[in-house]
Amino acid sequence: MSITAIKGFNDLLPSESGLWQFIEQTARQVFARYGFNEIRVPIVEKTELFCRSIGDTTDIVEKEMYTFTDKGGSSLTLRPEGTASVMRALIEHKLYALDSINKLYYMGPMFRHERPQKGRYRQFHQIGAEVTGAADPLIDAQVLLMVSRLFKELGLTEPSLQINSLGCPVCRPAYREALVAFLAQRQDALCEDCRRRQTTNPLRALDCKVPGCVEATKGAPAMLEHLCPECDLHFSAVQNYLAVAEVPFSLNPRMVRGLDYYTRTTFELVTGLLGSQSAVAAGGRYDGLVEQLGGPAVPGIGFALGVERVALLLGDRNFDGTPDLFIAVLGDAARTAGFHLMAGLQDQGFWVETDCEGKSLKSQMRRADKLKARYSIVLGDTELTAGSGSVKCMGDGSQQAVNLTVAAITEILTGG
Ligand code: HAM
Repeated sequence: MSITAIKGFNDLLPSESGLWQFIEQTARQVFARYGFNEIRVPIVEKTELFCRSIGDTTDIVEKEMYTFTDKGGSSLTLRPEGTASVMRALIEHKLYALDSINKLYYMGPMFRHERPQKGRYRQFHQIGAEVTGAADPLIDAQVLLMVSRLFKELGLTEPSLQINSLGCPVCRPAYREALVAFLAQRQDALCEDCRRRQTTNPLRALDCKVPGCVEATKGAPAMLEHLCPECDLHFSAVQNYLAVAEVPFSLNPRMVRGLDYYTRTTFELVTGLLGSQSAVAAGGRYDGLVEQLGGPAVPGIGFALGVERVALLLGDRNFDGTPDLFIAVLGDAARTAGFHLMAGLQDQGFWVETDCEGKSLKSQMRRADKLKARYSIVLGDTELTAGSGSVKCMGDGSQQAVNLTVAAITEILTGG
């Protein structure tokens, strides 16, 4: 019996990789324009890193991490997200001391043991960006501007931006208390998870999809009504800057993120096109995280998008290139001459294909058609003797006589 991949872990097939490369390249280009540099961090970290950053009572840490004990007896975890690792690296390499502002981006696989379905996998891929060192609301707006620019350049009008503020250690405790009191009055209507988390992580009740919880939390107090004056001012400034930059957004006072490190501005880019997996990208500010992980008091904000979800939104577009030239050959001498020409043209930067199966001329031309080659040329004894042949434009069937030299063929391929 043949061995198959693990459930929720997918192969990226050649037919899809063009689309993924387009997404990655677009992100790299946009990030560069906003001054971001790439950071590559390991896929495996000490388990404690995620417990301390994402939070012990979150779904990710409670239920979804791929944690194992290695041969040395250490508890290690396949990273469920990128922010914690990037902040660990920032602290470990004292990047904050090299520059007061650090703008970093990353891309790669993340791992969460969730129930797989369309748009939700156990190994999935994120492209994320983080800015540390600036608490100013202008940075929040800049990150959101960059995210919206990225989606524009990907050619997506969906998804739409929703923002919220989760307050700070000054105002959140009082809000939490108000919410706990509200939930206590309705606990019979709550699901088992929400009842259990009522005091440990009460905010999650606002995000629960169980119909009973949705109904019971309808009139729940909102964080936005409990912001302290500083958080209120910060959030208003973010909205003003977004208006200045003409970034459309809507407020979602019920948005609570599934990770505990957030403070103040949080956001999600949501779509109705992917069923229950509505968040295509998400992020927010995490002003206490670096300190919480043993570093200095450096504020931060960032986001990550799900590559699989963006790819689903972009759909079946063809991002594969096509060969510039197909060289069809008849006989051994032509095969050698064709190989020589092919090598020279490839050195000039062209994509050239030729027969490597000893097929008939008819099937070689069928292959040129299948590959959608722009041009083709047939080499046989007659052409070799004459030192010339004819290049055919596969689009309109027109033919041009040409000397069998790299320079002459290059001129045709470049439209000369
Ligand atoms: P997150 O909301 O957990 O945030 O994930 C960000 C994005 O990753 C989601 O919006 C979604 O597109 C994608 N995603 C998450 N889980 C899955 C899954 N199981 N299958 C497919 N796609 C998935 C974070 O991870 C934060 N680190 C974002 C951030 C960066 N906040 C600040 N900086």
